[in-house]
Amino acid sequence: MLTIEQISCGFGRQEILHDISLTIPEGKITAIVGQSGCGKTTFLKTLNRMIEEEGGFYKGKIILDGEDIKGLSTEVLRTRIGMVFQQPIAFPYSIEKNLSYVLKYHGIREAGEIERITRECLQKARLYDEIKDQLKKSAKKLSGGQKQRLAIARSLCVNPEILLLDEPCSALDMKNTIAIEETLLELKGKYTFVIVTHNLAQAKRIADQIIFMDQGRVLEVTDTKTFFEHPSSEPAREQIQYM
Ligand SMILES: Nc1ncnc2c1ncn2[C@@H]1O[C@H](COP(=O)(O)OP(=O)(O)OP(=O)(O)O)[C@@H](O)[C@H]1O
Ligand SMILES: [Mg+2]
Repeated sequence: MLTIEQISCGFGRQEILHDISLTIPEGKITAIVGQSGCGKTTFLKTLNRMIEEEGGFYKGKIILDGEDIKGLSTEVLRTRIGMVFQQPIAFPYSIEKNLSYVLKYHGIREAGEIERITRECLQKARLYDEIKDQLKKSAKKLSGGQKQRLAIARSLCVNPEILLLDEPCSALDMKNTIAIEETLLELKGKYTFVIVTHNLAQAKRIADQIIFMDQGRVLEVTDTKTFFEHPSSEPAREQIQYM
């Protein structure tokens, strides 16, 4: 479980997010929604401390399974809390090596073990069947949707507890979007997902919990049904109206 206690953060002197306290439940899908510029990406970047690498700061506490994340090395933190970005990132290697180099970096050397985990993670991300005969081909040749599923597979191969996904489907067509939604639905329980999406219908389809943000503040944290049927804030009501 991830507990966020009175987080404020920003860049330089400017505070972007103000006094956020909430809980991300384990084994569920939490969707973060809200208008462009409200701070969704900044919030995700705070959760794995990328914000500080970009010259930002945060105040307050982020507690992962009872432990303040400030006590973890960045490397350990990013293994436990992985991130998938809006623009799918395929490294300029073969499909196989996109995963195997991460595994080797984490000390897994045995070829059979690397092959087994690679296959398992590509299967989990629903990519394996499409590319099983092309594992040695360049990952750059994959389609956008395939690259995004490769990025998910790569994140899963270090066995994270939580995966943060920042608008993972915004550049994808319906078929690839559904493949990713089905992947998350199938894997929740084993993993905790936090997905930023502009697509309210997507949040309604897959999320268990909704975080609604507006101008750097969290206005609602609630179960999905309640959010869509009885939003408690005016900005949320307005957005749901246009679904
Ligand atoms: N590196 C940065 N330096 C300074 N300000 C930043 C930086 N990154 C984001 N901001 C500011 O923080 C605010 C929130 O941006 P953020 O990208 O988190 O919004 P968002 O909700 O993810 O928007 P979108 O839906 O368009 O992706 C914006 O005003 C933005 O200009
Ligand atoms: Mg964003």
